[in-house]
Amino acid sequence: MKKITKAVFPVAGLGTRFLPATKASPKEMLPIVDKPLIQYAVEEAVAAGITDMIFITGRNKRSISDHFDVAYELENELERNGKESLLKALRSIVPRNINCIYIRQNRALGLGHAVLMAKPVVQDEPFAVLLADDLLDGETPVMKQMTQAFDYYNCSLLGVENVPREQTRSYGIVASRPLDETVEQVSAIVEKPKPEDAPSTLGVVGRYVLTPRIFHFLENIQAGSGGEIQLTDGISALLNEEQVLAYRYQGVRYDCGSKSGYLEATVKLGLRHPEVGKEFRAMLEGMFGQSAKKTTQTSEKTRELLVVGGKS
Ligand code: UTP
Repeated sequence: MKKITKAVFPVAGLGTRFLPATKASPKEMLPIVDKPLIQYAVEEAVAAGITDMIFITGRNKRSISDHFDVAYELENELERNGKESLLKALRSIVPRNINCIYIRQNRALGLGHAVLMAKPVVQDEPFAVLLADDLLDGETPVMKQMTQAFDYYNCSLLGVENVPREQTRSYGIVASRPLDETVEQVSAIVEKPKPEDAPSTLGVVGRYVLTPRIFHFLENIQAGSGGEIQLTDGISALLNEEQVLAYRYQGVRYDCGSKSGYLEATVKLGLRHPEVGKEFRAMLEGMFGQSAKKTTQTSEKTRELLVVGGKS
């Protein structure tokens, strides 16, 4: 099997849970402190040795291609004003050896359909899929963990974590049996099952390594849950032909497609930000420090956040 050099970033969704913020600008451009979500995902792919970034875009998504393009006027301005560190930050958004490729999904027909749009570029190679609204924070970047696992197992891998049973409706859920500490053999996958119907609580998160055979199944499935062409249904069909593994990654996931997950990521990453972390911590302590002593539920949670943010 080949090395993974291509990553697909489906960014054509409507982002309805973040309206009105996402009315005219993409959810993937929402910043966590000072970097948009999509940049965190691209950096994770770069850390995994991936060189071709394939964005599946749609209406109102031009700012994503602008973000990964050169901004000559801005660079000149920063150069003239001697703003060296900002200039460096701007120029390091995309390393020189990285190719950015944009494919337009004219209608948001579902995640499976978005992935299928990448077929002409991916062709017959295994590839990664990263959903930027799942921000994954791992000491070893999660996609690197997964490409290393792919090098070993040579089959499709789904990033998974245990989710609360009452939330299975928000995930693809797998039925599986453990092979070792990090990997499970998947025997079935269901999209957004009711808690009582879920085969387990192992939920698929926004990281996949897929073999090119997935395209054959995505071409042939019908719209499923929510009237969309679901990647989960494609994977379910792939399972009849190929081994698919669930990969328990090491790291923390922030569901930045939801408001509370987005806020949590902002606090956690804000607390350890090299420029503003200290000031932000002092600000939070000023806001909540006093009430923390009164051991209300909210202040306990705040203290927890401060401790966790400080450790990492
Ligand atoms: P979501 O289910 O999060 O949908 O899509 P969404 O439209 O982005 O957000 P909400 O639920 O309306 O708030 C999961 C991923 O699949 C992409 C999205 O951009 C997101 O990264 N996607 C979804 C597409 O690229 N095309 C589609 O047709 C659907």
